[in-house]
Amino acid sequence: MTQPHASQKPSPKPLQKAVFPVAGLGTRFLPATKAQPKEMLPVVDKPLIQYAVEEAYAAGIRHMIFITGRNKRAIEDHFDTAYELENELEVAGKVALLKVLRSIQPDNMNFSYVRQHRSLGLGHAVLCAEHMVGDEPFAVLLADDLMVGNPPVLAQMAEQFAALQQSVIAVQEVPPEHTRRYGIVAGEAISPSLIKVSRIVEKPAPEDAPSHMGVAGRYILTPAVFAHIRQQSGGVGGEIQLTDGIAGLMSQEDVYAFQYQGQRYDCGSKEGFLQATVELALEHPEVGQHFRAYLQQLQLTLR
Ligand code: UTP
Repeated sequence: MTQPHASQKPSPKPLQKAVFPVAGLGTRFLPATKAQPKEMLPVVDKPLIQYAVEEAYAAGIRHMIFITGRNKRAIEDHFDTAYELENELEVAGKVALLKVLRSIQPDNMNFSYVRQHRSLGLGHAVLCAEHMVGDEPFAVLLADDLMVGNPPVLAQMAEQFAALQQSVIAVQEVPPEHTRRYGIVAGEAISPSLIKVSRIVEKPAPEDAPSHMGVAGRYILTPAVFAHIRQQSGGVGGEIQLTDGIAGLMSQEDVYAFQYQGQRYDCGSKEGFLQATVELALEHPEVGQHFRAYLQQLQLTLR
């Protein structure tokens, strides 16, 4: 076998893995999340986690790694085969529903589950995936941020990553008074949609925020980030923050913020969840038309 030349650069590693941290407590959605994961809350007819998995799949990713915690078993069941149900549908000749069910887990998709024993923060959750990710770039998707984009937001980011071979974080402009809800980035604009990040701060007060560019729940990271997360002892709220790990990574590698084309719904909050429900229901092929008529009639009644 021919050995690669010593001066030859190793070829870039493709993006093949996605990490879904789903071990949070979901306190903003209590009591709905007392006994079920918030990622299983449905927007119209699909749980939030399925939207995120489909987005990763559309970006070419085939290995889905879930960081789970207590009360999250419904997620594993959702992506497993439901033999009894499939059998019932088959016997009843409900072919369309059977197709819907089987499309949840295409044959070429792999699922892994890692347990985060305590909710120590998003950074800690991502660190729990280290042994599964290994020495490869990986995506992180927060399923409670429901992203609607064409092409899908992670696919837009994967394209940027393929060109840069450096970490890429999704950002959007946020209202100045909302900086406390986000990681905020600042840096040098190198194109209309790309910023080379020089600062990243978790949930700053408006007067301390270095910009109004807020991080949305999509990241493509290089494996070098793990070492920097490991160095964190606890940031905002006493949690091990992914933001602080990324800030550490910036001392070693370039990190880019990408202004994606699309819409983000913060489905971890009641208001964002309701907005997503209404807007996706209006677009839904089965119920959209009737729902629009219903809302129009409702508006008349409200006046
Ligand atoms: P959030 O900040 O939304 O926290 O976490 P949360 O616990 O899910 O929800 P609230 O704020 O109590 O309502 C952002 C993402 O990080 C995951 C969550 O599941 C969510 O996808 N996470 C957070 C973990 O997996 N583990 C943690 O320890 C913390």
